[in-house]
Parts: sequence; structure tokens; C-alpha cells
Amino acid sequence: MPTLGVNIDHIATLRQARRGKDPDPIAAAIIAELAGADGITVHLREDRRHIQERDVRLLRQTIQSRLNLEMAATPEMVAIALDVKPDYITLVPERREEITTEGGLNVKAQGDRLSKFVNQLQGAGIPVSLFVDPEAVQIQACAKTGAKFIELHTGTYANAKNEVELKLELEKLTTSGALAIELGLRLNSGHGLTYRNTRAIAQIEGMEELNIGHSIISRAVLVGLDQAIREMKALIS
Ligand code: PXP
Repeated sequence: MPTLGVNIDHIATLRQARRGKDPDPIAAAIIAELAGADGITVHLREDRRHIQERDVRLLRQTIQSRLNLEMAATPEMVAIALDVKPDYITLVPERREEITTEGGLNVKAQGDRLSKFVNQLQGAGIPVSLFVDPEAVQIQACAKTGAKFIELHTGTYANAKNEVELKLELEKLTTSGALAIELGLRLNSGHGLTYRNTRAIAQIEGMEELNIGHSIISRAVLVGLDQAIREMKALIS
């Protein structure tokens, strides 16, 4: 049974809509932990559109579960990460104009560059996860970097338009998960997971953590954060 990392970026999106103080992601993280979240995930983006550095630092001091910092592989972000020391880091590709992370890292093409970041961060005692599409070449390249984890990108699965596509994408995720484990990588997944499509992903052999944000925060607006998290926890167990 995988654990649940609750991504609270969109609590900060709502706050940044007015550049004010409410709602505070720190308060949300505390409620999330009380409701059973096993970890809190935030993406500190270069453009600071939602989560701010202040949030990451306060979360580090406040939460009692795991802090997963999603970030681009850049010297600026590495400096922040080495200072804050999250429990683990997920490296993601980042484009300023994208609405959300659009695809996995191209580890195959950028292996040498990424290995340097992985070594630097893991050398400081922070395990690194690489966010990748469910493709064998990418997973093999991840293993070569020395990263401890991968996070399989479930976005294409989440966007499947019919049962045939859904089945195909689920097969890709299952096969990729098995390959990752065979290569000694630990396995997480995330992106686009909802109350409807998460159960199948939770059942993939060896899945350790699911990182879920938008669907939980969207449901929280209607039913409350505590209930939204409890429902997702129940579903993945
Ligand atoms: N995992 C990664 C690497 C992400 O970039 C995101 C989005 O920030 C998520 C998981 C969560 O995706 P969603 O908000 O669609 O649940």
C-alpha cells in the first residue's frame, strides 16, 4: 500500500491570487497531516507563482511527516535545497509558460548534467527522485544517475480518452515500475491522479508513494481538506 504525499501548491495558488496571507499553506499542511497525509509536497517554481521560499522554510520547521521538495535542476534551487534540507527532492523539468509540469525529465539526453545534481544533493544526505515518463530508456538512464527514486509521470494515463488508451497507459506504468524496481530504484508516481483513476496506480507492485495535489485541493474546496484527504487515503489503502 503506497503512502500519500499531499501536494499543497494550489493552497498557495489561491493565496497568490490576492498576494495576501490566506489561505496559508502551513495551516493546510498541518490539517493534511492530521487527516493522515504521509508527506507534504511543494513545488518551488522559478517564477514563484504559488509556493514561496518562506513556505518551504516554515514547512521544514513545522511538519512532522516528510517534506518532498519538487524543483528544477538549477544551481539556484540546489542552493536553497541544501540550506532547507527537505526529506527528499523530486527533480522536475520546468518551463515558465507551462500551466503545470508537462512531461517527465529527459534523463536519457541530460544524464551527465542531472547526475551532477543528484550527486551533490545525495552527497548532502538528501535522497533524489527523478520525475520521468514511463519509458524504458528513461528509467535505464535514471538508474545510471545514481538517484534513489523515480516518480513515474501519470499525466498521460490521467488524460486517456477511452478505455483502450487507459489500459495501454496503465500497462506502460506497470512495466516501467517493474523495470525500475529490477534496476534497484524506488518507485513513486504522480500527476493528474484523481479519486477515479488512482486506485489502479496504487496497486502497481512496489509503489511507495503517490503525490497528489490538484484533485485533493479541488475536492477540499467543496468538502473540506480533512475529508478530501481522508477519502484519498482510504482509496489508496
Ligand atoms: N508530481 C509532480 C512531479 C508534479 O510536478 C506534480 C504537479 O506539481 C504532481 C505530482 C501533482 O500533480 P497534480 O496536482 O496533478 O496531482
